[in-house]
Amino acid sequence: MRDQDQSLYDVYKDYFSIGAAVNIRTIKSHKDILIKHFNSITAENEMKFESLHPKMDQYDFTNSDLIYHFARTNNMELRGHTFVWHNQTPNWVFEDKNKQRVSRETLLQTLEQHISAVVYRYGEGIYCWDVVNEAVEDRKTEYLRDTKWLQIIGEDYLMKAFEIAHKKAPSALLFYNDYNESNPEKRKKIANLVFTLKKNGAPIHGVGLQCHWNIFDPCFDDIKRSFEIYGSLGLKVQVTEMDISMFEFSDRRADLVKPTVEMIEKQATLYEKAFKLFREYKEVINGVTLWGVADDENWLDHFPVRDRKNWPLLFDENHEPKEAFYRILQF
Ligand code: GLA
Repeated sequence: MRDQDQSLYDVYKDYFSIGAAVNIRTIKSHKDILIKHFNSITAENEMKFESLHPKMDQYDFTNSDLIYHFARTNNMELRGHTFVWHNQTPNWVFEDKNKQRVSRETLLQTLEQHISAVVYRYGEGIYCWDVVNEAVEDRKTEYLRDTKWLQIIGEDYLMKAFEIAHKKAPSALLFYNDYNESNPEKRKKIANLVFTLKKNGAPIHGVGLQCHWNIFDPCFDDIKRSFEIYGSLGLKVQVTEMDISMFEFSDRRADLVKPTVEMIEKQATLYEKAFKLFREYKEVINGVTLWGVADDENWLDHFPVRDRKNWPLLFDENHEPKEAFYRILQF
């Protein structure tokens, strides 16, 4: 039976919330799908540092307010993304007017003021935050990514960020978020990082697994192991940015005008397997978010190849449910 009328989030109400990344266009253009099938949203870019706080003495809540109100009006959870990241953070945060590096104290103060202003605006309307995004290095030989946060503050910048976030937003769930999350080498480092943070008393409540996968990836044993590891540390897991690209990361060909039947089938099978696994770990997982709503607009159309169409989500370019959608709806 192909029941288009069932709501995805309703089907999953005893498991975890179902989220989508949105922007100020898609909350209008994809409104119907969002309202019907999703009960959680994340701002795709609108709550990043450069969007909210472009200049030292200037905050801009115009776009984030629209997303916040969309969530409130439609009774959806809102995930906060993100406070500390090496990307999409303006230079003024790290450099003074003379282009000199700011001090550790100044950077910590900036972070505290930033978090304070954002939390003051949205309060409990944002129930969880990705406090730190992508702090772990991909290269095997290195542990933490060499960012300005690390260089200026030192290794305890993560601890400090969680402490500040908790002080300002005591009721929010606080997450560490990263990609390549199930790759055993990187997972070991992420697990070590969150374990150490927790052991040292950091107010960390969960790990966000981005889950930017493709139809040739992921290894389900590795993913399962991630849930077990983080669960055993007493942390919650959220799948925060899921999509399943039609291309391997190293595949840069750009001549495909539509996905083949095999690709669609492979993608559907992977979504089905993934959601089956997520359901099995519902005690650990309390949210699954897709990084976009439908295939007509998503970041993979521009990454890693500009203007190459990709079809990574559950709804097609005409906003119709794909095979993958039905597979995760019916179990
Ligand atoms: C990372 C970030 C997201 C987003 C995606 C690409 O995963 O965490 O905020 O920028 O890359 O769109």
